[in-house]
Amino acid sequence: MAGIDQAVAILRDGGLVAFPTETVYGLGADASNPQAVAKIFAAKGRPVDHPVIVHVADAAQLAQWAREVPPAVYRLAQQFWPGPLTLILRRAAHVSDFVTGGQDSVGLRVPAHPLALQLLKAFGGGIAAPSANRFGRISPTTAQHVRDELGNSVDMVLDGGACQVGIESTIVDLSGDAPALLRPGKISAAELETVLGMPLAAPQKYSPRVSGSLASHYAPHTPMRLLATDALLVEAQRRLMQGQRVAVLLLSRSAVLHGATLVHAPDDALAYAHDLYANLRSLDAARCDILLVEVPPQTQEWLAVNDRLKRAAADRCGEEET
Ligand code: TXA
Ligand code: MG
Repeated sequence: MAGIDQAVAILRDGGLVAFPTETVYGLGADASNPQAVAKIFAAKGRPVDHPVIVHVADAAQLAQWAREVPPAVYRLAQQFWPGPLTLILRRAAHVSDFVTGGQDSVGLRVPAHPLALQLLKAFGGGIAAPSANRFGRISPTTAQHVRDELGNSVDMVLDGGACQVGIESTIVDLSGDAPALLRPGKISAAELETVLGMPLAAPQKYSPRVSGSLASHYAPHTPMRLLATDALLVEAQRRLMQGQRVAVLLLSRSAVLHGATLVHAPDDALAYAHDLYANLRSLDAARCDILLVEVPPQTQEWLAVNDRLKRAAADRCGEEET
């Protein structure tokens, strides 16, 4: 395919290619080329000590990037790859500090999107790729989002339509004494525990840096607040009466609210996640004074969505890792 051939040529030449995955769009560079990986940080405006995930075509490549691959890792890979799961393993000696953020670990993932897999197979090596957004902002789930975020700083955007999952992969740290969940995602802790045969530890205090774990992340420009249904309706009315412009993300079962810029999101957690970043982007684009979001249920199936909403709404001053 012409698009893939061109993308491979750009990667081999040290350029940047944004590509679709089933979670969000990634901003890719040749993971074995430190100058190319450095361009990712420049394009995103991201601190250089934050590690990036290396995407590979299949689990057979694990041993090229990790110096130890415990049997449990192959079980997870067999069960969940290609898919929305990132495994943090002890890095092989050759892996660049730009990829690992100077840590002793490397994040690895086989994405499930057909275009991503075609690209990885044709390229042959690992593709380092964070989400293709400016640092701290909303992850892109369409090719147009990537163009809006990064403009000319990316050499090519492969368009694979809207991402199916819509929020970033689940991250499990297998580089320490006990497996730990670093970022919740579509693949739940319970599913991972079944395959691991042991409970996941809470992230350790000195767990490796995960920029998605910063208190403020995935954030729109409009100040955002998370409120329960009744409190949200009261707050929205109060602000509307003051003449403010109010954007609202409601669950579909909820009331209509006249005078606000309104989006009704699906009641189902997976469908909500699929639409989440596109909904936040379109409400942000309305340039209102405030963005009010109705808090979804506090159940396990909504864990990853609630995690992203909490960080999107977090105070941008005094950023702190949580
Ligand atoms: O779904 C996803 O994971 C998407 C798609 C493009 O694959 N990628 C993504 O990348 O969300 P990014 O960089 O936006 O978030 C990956 C997270 C970061 O917070 C990074 O710090 C963490 O993974 N990470 C990567 N390598 C790591 C490592 N060696 N140790 C700890 N955390 C790591
Ligand atoms: Mg990101």
